[in-house]
Amino acid sequence: MTERKKVTLPTLFKKYHEGEPITMLTCYDYPTATFQDQAGVDMVLVGDSLGMTMLGYDSTLPVTMDDMIRHSQAVRRGAPHVWLIGDMPYMTYQPSVESAIRNAGRFMAEASCDSVKLEGGREMADRMEGIVKAGIPAMGHLGLTPQSASALGGFRVQGKGAEQAARIVEDARNLEEAGAFSILLELVPDRVCRLITERASIPIISLGSGPDANGQLLIYHDMFGLYPKFKPRMAKVYGNAGEVILNGLRQYVAEVTDKTFPAPENYFSISDEEYESLAERFRA
Ligand code: KIV
Repeated sequence: MTERKKVTLPTLFKKYHEGEPITMLTCYDYPTATFQDQAGVDMVLVGDSLGMTMLGYDSTLPVTMDDMIRHSQAVRRGAPHVWLIGDMPYMTYQPSVESAIRNAGRFMAEASCDSVKLEGGREMADRMEGIVKAGIPAMGHLGLTPQSASALGGFRVQGKGAEQAARIVEDARNLEEAGAFSILLELVPDRVCRLITERASIPIISLGSGPDANGQLLIYHDMFGLYPKFKPRMAKVYGNAGEVILNGLRQYVAEVTDKTFPAPENYFSISDEEYESLAERFRA
C-alpha cells in the first residue's frame, strides 16, 4: 500500500481549482482519527462540538482551550496526513486580536494543527486578519454559528430572508479579504451558499447548506448514530454504530450475569504441575 501524502494548502487549492470536492469531517479522538486518515478524508475539524458529543455539556460554551488541545493532540497522533483544523472555543478570540493570536498559536505549537477555525463575520475580521498575519491559516464560519446560538434565536437555518442573506454574503467577502483560506457555511439556504461560492476565490465548505459548495462537512457523531440526544435533519446516517454498541453492551451484561462469559478463550491457565506446586505451599 502506498503511504498517503500529507494534505497541504496547495493540495486543497489544487482540488478547488480542478473542481474536485473537498471532504471534511469532525473528529475528537485517536481511534476515529486513524479511520478517517485511512479513508482519505482531506480536512479534519476538532470541533468545539466535542463539548456536547464527548463531554456531555448542553452547549459548546463551557469548552476550554485545554480541552481542545488535549483532543487535537490525540487526533493528530491518529491522523498525521489530514489537514487538521483546531476550532477556537468560546471567548478565546472574541475579547481581542491578541487573545485570538495567542490561542490560535497554541493549536499550532501544542497540537501540531495546520490551521484554526473561528466563528463570526465582519465583527471578527480583525481577529481573522491578526491570526493570518501571524502566519496561521484560518477558516471562517458563517450562518449558524453555535457559539452565538442564543443571539441567533436557537439552532436554526440562517439567511432565509434577503436582508439577512445579504449580510452573510458580505461577511464572506470580509473574511476572504481578511485572509481566510476557506469559509464554512453552516445551515444557510442552498442558493445563498451557491451565490457565496460563485463570488469567492477560496474554498467554501457546506454543512447542511447544499451541494454547490466546494466541499462538504458532516459531524462524525451524526453520521454513525453516536449522539442519540439529537439528530439534525440535514445529517446523513451512514451506519448505526450507536445501536451496534448498545446491543453489544446489553449482551455483555447478560453473558456475565448468566456466566456464559468468560469462555476458555477469554482467560489463561496454569499447568497441572505448576498449580500442584503452588497449592502445596498453601495446604494446611
Ligand atoms: O464544533 C463544531 O463541530 C463545528 C461544526 C458545527 C461546524 O464548529
